[in-house]
Amino acid sequence: MNIAVIGGAGFIGSHAVKLLVERGHQVTAIDNLTNGHRAAVHRQAAFYALDCGQTAALAAVFQERKIEAVMHFAANAYVGESVEDPRKYYRNNVAHTISMLDAMHLCGIKKLVFSSTCATYGQPDHVPITEDMPQRPISPYGQSKWMVERILRDTAQAEGLAFAAPRYFNVAGSALDGTIGEDHRPETHLIPIVLQVALGQRKQVDIFGNDYPTADGTCIRDYVHVWDLVEAHLVLLEHLKPGQGLFYNLGVGRGYSVREIISVCRRVTNANIPTREVPRRAGDPPELFADPGKMARDFGWKAKITDLEEIVRSAWRWFQAHPNGY
Ligand code: UFG
Repeated sequence: MNIAVIGGAGFIGSHAVKLLVERGHQVTAIDNLTNGHRAAVHRQAAFYALDCGQTAALAAVFQERKIEAVMHFAANAYVGESVEDPRKYYRNNVAHTISMLDAMHLCGIKKLVFSSTCATYGQPDHVPITEDMPQRPISPYGQSKWMVERILRDTAQAEGLAFAAPRYFNVAGSALDGTIGEDHRPETHLIPIVLQVALGQRKQVDIFGNDYPTADGTCIRDYVHVWDLVEAHLVLLEHLKPGQGLFYNLGVGRGYSVREIISVCRRVTNANIPTREVPRRAGDPPELFADPGKMARDFGWKAKITDLEEIVRSAWRWFQAHPNGY
């Protein structure tokens, strides 16, 4: 297929580009390079430096490249920043997605996979989280993704769009051949931060909160390998149905605490990783992990890299080889 990957120079988008190229698709990566890295984009993909909010320019690229389906990863994704600057999130994540949908509509493109998030569930009443649980996002970031889910449902009804909105848990790791990986600036995610401490680039890891109602007092998350995640996108793309939306949790189905992550990182890196206990970070729910059973039942998809040590090893390979990122 001719597939456009918007946000194709970002962490997850660049892995999707690589997977699609390797599976024989014609890939067009589009990214405004605000957060993405040109060097992350696979050489066999066409690349356009373009903002997805520019409907006419985007439609021209879709037409020129005969695009048949879109994967849309471009978004701002810092929960804390979204609280401080909500309009940035509603503009870039919601308004620009509408502009992108306009471009798809102008070109008659009816297939879309859109990155959603477990942040749309907010503070769930229980874990594991199933797709039918109430969505009550607690940050503008989560709201923005939830709003797009609503917009996509309505667009599917009105125009016959076929879409999937996978809801990601905590995405980690790097391409297994070590060619691309994670390079967020600023970095806020736990595993990269711990590995940067192991590299001596930071003094210590701050543990945000030690009084959560969990076994060791720290937050629990479901860490899913980026390669498993992008493979699931391809599975979803292959099962899209006109006028319908597919909503799936993408996680491993088991949670690890912040302390467990740090201790696995110590094992993998052999580094003495100093920690400091600091107050809770606003907006962090105590425990999030997926029930990934619906993906397994409907499509036979399950994360293959379920061993946390293997996930951390894959991230570590990237950080060791690219201590300064791209
Ligand atoms: N944490 C620390 N110290 C750090 C960084 C993180 O203790 O220096 C803790 C956080 O408090 C949290 C856990 O490690 O409990 C994981 O934090 P991340 O920032 O790595 O990931 P989040 O769970 O906050 O965020 C992820 C995605 C978001 C998404 C969110 C949904 O990165 O895009 O899940 O809850 F919105």
